[in-house]
Formats: sequence, C-alpha cells, structure tokens
Amino acid sequence: MGQIRTQLQTEHLWWQQGVIYQIYPRSFQDSDGDGIGDLTGIISRLDYLHWLGIDCIWLSPIFPSPMADFGYDISDYEGIHPLFGKMEDFDELLREVHSRGMKLLLDLVPNHTSDQHPWFLESRSSRDNAKRDWYIWHNRRPDGSLPNNWLSVFGGHAWEWDETTQQYYYHAFLKEQPDLNWRNPEVQQAMLDAMRFWLEKGIDGFRVDVMWHMIKDGQFRDNPPFPGSTFDADDLIYDHYIPVYSTDQPEVHDIVRMMRKLTDEYDERVLIGEIYLPVDKLVTYYGLDGKEAHLPFNFQLLMLPWDPTQIAMAIDEYEGALPDQGWPNWVLSNHDRPRISSRIGSSQAKIAAMLLLTLRGTPTIYYGDEIGMCDVPIPMDEIVDPQGLHAPDLNVSRDPARTPMQWDEKFNAGFSTHKPWLRLPYNSGRVNVKMQKKDPYSALSFYRTLIALRKEHPALHVGSYSLVYSDSQLISYIRKHEDMRFLVILNLSHRPGYFKPKTEVYKGVVIFGTENERAGMQVEGIITLGGDEGLLIRLE
Ligand code: GLC
Ligand code: MG
Repeated sequence: MGQIRTQLQTEHLWWQQGVIYQIYPRSFQDSDGDGIGDLTGIISRLDYLHWLGIDCIWLSPIFPSPMADFGYDISDYEGIHPLFGKMEDFDELLREVHSRGMKLLLDLVPNHTSDQHPWFLESRSSRDNAKRDWYIWHNRRPDGSLPNNWLSVFGGHAWEWDETTQQYYYHAFLKEQPDLNWRNPEVQQAMLDAMRFWLEKGIDGFRVDVMWHMIKDGQFRDNPPFPGSTFDADDLIYDHYIPVYSTDQPEVHDIVRMMRKLTDEYDERVLIGEIYLPVDKLVTYYGLDGKEAHLPFNFQLLMLPWDPTQIAMAIDEYEGALPDQGWPNWVLSNHDRPRISSRIGSSQAKIAAMLLLTLRGTPTIYYGDEIGMCDVPIPMDEIVDPQGLHAPDLNVSRDPARTPMQWDEKFNAGFSTHKPWLRLPYNSGRVNVKMQKKDPYSALSFYRTLIALRKEHPALHVGSYSLVYSDSQLISYIRKHEDMRFLVILNLSHRPGYFKPKTEVYKGVVIFGTENERAGMQVEGIITLGGDEGLLIRLE
C-alpha cells in the first residue's frame, strides 16, 4: 500500500490531488481597521484554511489599482496595493502559506490594464508614442461611426473616443480597462516579465483572467447578433451578440503556450485559465499536445440548471472531451456569480459540495461557501460593483457574493473593527465560522469531513469516474482506484427518492452523507434517500 501511495504522489501533482480555495482579498479579513481585507488579515486566517484541509489558495488581484473594477484594473503588475499591504507583507504571506504545506496562486490580468497604468498613459499621449501600438486604437469609419459593433461585457459600446489623439480605443470591460494589443511582441514580453517576477518570488502559479479574450480578430469584423434577435442598433447588451470576432481567436493559443512555457521553467507551477466557453471549445485551451493551460476553469456546474440528467450528461460530455493530458476541474461559485447557497438553496448547497468534492478533477471552493454564506442583499444606494451600476435595472451587481467573511458573532462578524466596505447579512451572529466549528451538523463540519475523506482515499481524488445512472431526481456515480470503489448518490430534489440500478446490485457501507446519523449503515439493492440527501458509500 505504501508503495502505491508513493507512486500516486509522483504520478499526480499537487494541483491534481488538492483543493483550491479562492479568496477575495477585500473581504476575507481586515487587520488595520479600514473596513477592507488585507494581506496581514489573510495571514492571521491561514491556520483556519489549513484546518479546513485547503491545499492551495488563489487570491483575486492584490496589485496597485484605481479599483474601478476592484483590482481587475491593474496599474502596476509588480507591486502590492497599499490597501492590502506592502511587498514585505506579501513575502510573509507566501512564507506562511508554504510553511503550512499549502500553495499560493495569484490572479494575472493580462487582457487589459487600468487606464492609469503608465503604459496606457504613454499610449494615449500621442499617435506616435512608442507604446501607441500596445493598445487597440482605431479610426472612426469613413461615415463617422464606431470602428465596429463590439460591445463591452458590462454593457454599452466597447470603443471609447480619445479627444487628444482623435481615435477610439477598445475595452472589453470598463473604459477604465483598455485592452492590450497582444499581437505586439513588446506587450507579450512585458507581461511575461511580470509573470517571471512573481514566479521568481516563489508563487505556485496563476489564475489568468479572461484568457479567451486576449486576442481579437485581425480584421475587426462585426459580431453577428444572436439568430432570431431583432437587430436593433440601440441594443447595447453584450449577450445579444455572438462574440465570434472579439473572443476565442485561434491566435490566442500561441499566447497561452508562451505563458505555459514560462511557467514550465519552474517546478510544479500551475496555469489556470478563466474561460467561459462551451466544452468543445474550452478543452482546446489545454492545447492539443497538453502544452497550454493546466486547468481551463470548468464552469459548467455554475451555469447549468440544477437538473440531475443535464448535469450527468455534462459530466460525461466533459470527461469525453478532455484531451489525453487534460486534468479535469470543477467550480461551483466565484466572485462574479451568485453564491451556490443562494442559487439552489442551503439544503441543496450540501449536495453541490458533495458533487464538487467527489467528482474527478480539481475542485475550487469560493471563500464562505464552506459555511453556507448566501448572497447578501445590498440596498441600491450601497451598490459599488461597476457591473451593477452600469445596468441598474438588470439587478446584476456582483456585490452580494463579495461580502465580508463571517468569522464570529462579534461586531462586524470579526471581519473588521470598522464599517466593512460591503455590509454583512443580519444573521452573521448565527452563520459564522466560530459557531459552525462547534456544530457537527454545520456546513463547515460537512465540508471539512468531506475534504478529509477526499484526501484520505485515492479513489476520491485521483480515481476513475463512471456514471451509474441519473433520473429526474438523482445522480449516481462510482469513483474507483485499484480495488477501492465508492458509490456517490445525490438527490438533487427536495422529495424522497429511490436509487434503483437496473442491473447490478450494489452493496456497501455509508461512510458519509448529508445526515450524520446515516454513517456506518449497511446498504444493499434499492436505496431510499430523503429529499436533499446525499450518500457516499464504500462498496464491498
Ligand atoms: C474577470 C473577472 C471579473 C472582472 C473581469 C474583467 O471575468 O473575474 O471580476 O470584472 O474579468 O477583468
Ligand atoms: Mg484593511
């Protein structure tokens, strides 16, 4: 057995076996009383993450930024925003993470900079500036109209007029986030240099922001409207067009390869890509030869309706589409989407956690999901997210999923001594880490035990996956390694249901489930499940 273990550890790297945890730094822990989380705050909570069983932490951006998009508008790729601390604080954080045997990933935002970045200030200063071509500048069309019909993801036109130099620049997001011109070799070099800066410091890799946006069509052709949508020139909603020319261009793969090549100069670092694309396109970001992203983020669980048959199909489709070298991964929530507890309800959120942590592939947990944090209702006059502010009628603010971590029952939930940058929910005295640590039935205890089981059994982290069956209520599958087999049965509905496999009779013992009382019970044949119940069964 010992020998198998060692073999496994050499065959599978840490980022394949481990669990990733996303921290939104503004909201994890404040240490200096300004109501905004910071690096020293994170350091003070590392023991908690270690206790929880986290292997790797990904930090949303911590770099200098005017904060137009809360750090996704970077003005210096090699510094630390004073709000979050100093470079010494970062160095200490990295040391402290590593000393606990954990890993640290940073967020690289290569598609665009802040409009306050010195590169852009130079670029916009004159048409013949040496950095003019670092960004995407275009003339108006002869009839005076915009260069093309591309829209900003946040709504409105993606082109901003520059009075001084009489040209438009392209911004896929805010006008304060001009897109870099990745066809320019100097841009490529500058960003690779920034990556090297952090890799040399010893970070364990990057999550790369909007990877599929990095290169645009060389001819800047108009995006087609969605078939069937009434073409209306005043319709400035991003989703009403198919971004076939503004995203996912073939040349993007050359860029990802460059990033990977650099990453591979260092030992066991990982490159993760944020990519919202259908599975067949998503998997191309592994590279045909496996030389692109290690993990193109798989957001299917976050996008699909909460329907067992659709999810089961999606898992199989994904497993089938993966290239030989491609290691799977799963994400349930992030800082851009509603929290899982709010999307499917608290009781189903436990089922979702079981799915996330028993599927084949690296799971990413969003901070606070482990205590069942919900989206916090933010009064209209407190909205700060630009996506929410740009479309006040659509209710698309991302603030509700970015609220401070709820640590204890004290003032501001132990997050800060000062009024937090986003409000806490009314129930933070009840829903918090401290209370849940003591409660064996809590979401936190549930997550912790599940993570520990996943770690303990190779079948659950590196084992094979095979669907048993799914119906309108259940999804069931087997994870297997060597002669160890686990059967997972999840009831995605609130009604009781029956696990009735067609041919084989499964026999085993429940080792974990949504009802603690069920652990240790023998099961065989038809298995009855309660509504919102999930079972992890070790098969005989
Ligand atoms: C990514 C980030 C999101 C940000 C956008 C623009 O999608 O996750 O938060 O607004 O990129 O950088
Ligand atoms: Mg602070």
